[in-house]
Amino acid sequence: MPVPISCKVIALVGFMGCGKTTVGRLLAERLGWRFVDLDTRIVERSGSSIVDIFRRHGEPVFREIEQEVLDRSLGEIAERGRCAVFALGGGTLTRPENLGRLRQAGATLVWLDCPVEDLLIRCAGVSDRPLFRDESSFRRLFQERVPVYSQADYRVDATAEPALVVERILPLVRLTGVGG
Ligand code: S3P
Repeated sequence: MPVPISCKVIALVGFMGCGKTTVGRLLAERLGWRFVDLDTRIVERSGSSIVDIFRRHGEPVFREIEQEVLDRSLGEIAERGRCAVFALGGGTLTRPENLGRLRQAGATLVWLDCPVEDLLIRCAGVSDRPLFRDESSFRRLFQERVPVYSQADYRVDATAEPALVVERILPLVRLTGVGG
């Protein structure tokens, strides 16, 4: 049995296509918590698509915006004393400061783990991911990212249907006293 956890923020991490947004939304619904999708907030904040930010300004500027939006979103949740599920971007944890901010906020990090073969299939044909260029760079980036995601508190097999992945995460959440 997993050790029960008590927290007000659950942050889903993992590579592109692992299901952070879909699982995060469902999980938040089940818990009655707020849902924060970091990529969506970045688009709202900048008024540009992720692809456009990468194309016009490059990845370093995207990472700056991402960090600022993460800071602001964590601040809002803390200020309002709310419980929230965050879907981070696939590269959010590549900045160590972001992991620090999440830890400071008391977030529990859950890695949605999926084999790269499945992720390739899920991402094929989707054009809104600037870092999905070709198969070999995708595989290379995945290998680089595994140690980054390994910093999460929990690792959950995310190969199943999103609803089943949610069932796997729920036992990790101690419901008493914190929201739904
Ligand atoms: C990125 C993943 C994307 C998005 C951006 C960069 C990455 O999010 O933040 O394209 O560095 O892996 P998803 O993981 O939600 O696709």
